[in-house]
Amino acid sequence: MEVMTDEEFQLLRDFISQKSGISYGKGQKFILQQKLYRLLEKTSFKNFKEYYYFLKYSSSKEILQELFDTLAVNETYFFREKEQIFLLKDYIYPELLDLRPNRVIKILSVGCSTGEEPYSISMISSEYFKEQNLNFSITALDISSKALAIAESATYKKVSLAFRSIEPKYLKEHFEEIGQSYKVKDNIRANVKFKMFNLMELQPYFIFGKFDIVYCRNVMIYFDKLLRQQIINYFYENVVNPDGYLILSSTENLNDIETKFVLTRIGQTFVYQKK
Ligand SMILES: C[S@@+](CC[C@H](N)C(=O)[O-])C[C@H]1O[C@@H](n2cnc3c(N)ncnc32)[C@H](O)[C@@H]1O
Repeated sequence: MEVMTDEEFQLLRDFISQKSGISYGKGQKFILQQKLYRLLEKTSFKNFKEYYYFLKYSSSKEILQELFDTLAVNETYFFREKEQIFLLKDYIYPELLDLRPNRVIKILSVGCSTGEEPYSISMISSEYFKEQNLNFSITALDISSKALAIAESATYKKVSLAFRSIEPKYLKEHFEEIGQSYKVKDNIRANVKFKMFNLMELQPYFIFGKFDIVYCRNVMIYFDKLLRQQIINYFYENVVNPDGYLILSSTENLNDIETKFVLTRIGQTFVYQKK
């Protein structure tokens, strides 16, 4: 196997961090080498340096996309940290609808990976909104085209880890069986729009508009503090509506950065609110 020199590691890790936000620590050269070696094998690049210069100076979007697809950690599953999904119907929806009845509630899932998170939100929300006779929409974004292709297909192998945390009643009600896979039913899919998006390319105005609830779980764990600070400020100013919520995973928090979001406890969960 081609060995990555320290210089190559430095060049590639800076490039990757600048383009995707994903940061590799000093001790992670071997991990990056393993991941990129597979890409090198498929191409005619002689070594990591040649690959780096191509990434840097060619205008090929495909090669950059392939890099993102290779580096993205796509682990996710239906109803991951389910209390963070159920709090929508138990607390957040009633509260937001009390403040402004008859509104269409807009939800954003950033770093949606292969779709399990936004589809879980769609399942819970369609049950709630059917009873209320109101409407909601979910926008789901990710940097990885491979992950988004799976999300769009809405089809998951029965044996996959995607189902490790789903209650049987949701599986029965919201999926159809297709051979060795389960596919999310059309009514649940229809509420979710997937789009390719890179958090490193934030525009002065958020092109998808403003949202009442933003899920950004297990995405910024790979980002450094400065970048997290910039993204959180951006969410506050440009993405989250007044009274809206930002939901991180339970292993993440904003303790080390300055923010106007207010930490709020809902049931067993902590979320951030724009007051
Ligand atoms: C571990 S998954 C989290 C999936 C889901 N939110 C969850 O908690 O189960 C992290 C996702 O963040 C995406 N991601 C990483 N960097 C990103 C960036 N700069 N812009 C948008 N998405 C990014 C990855 O492609 C990956 O699908």
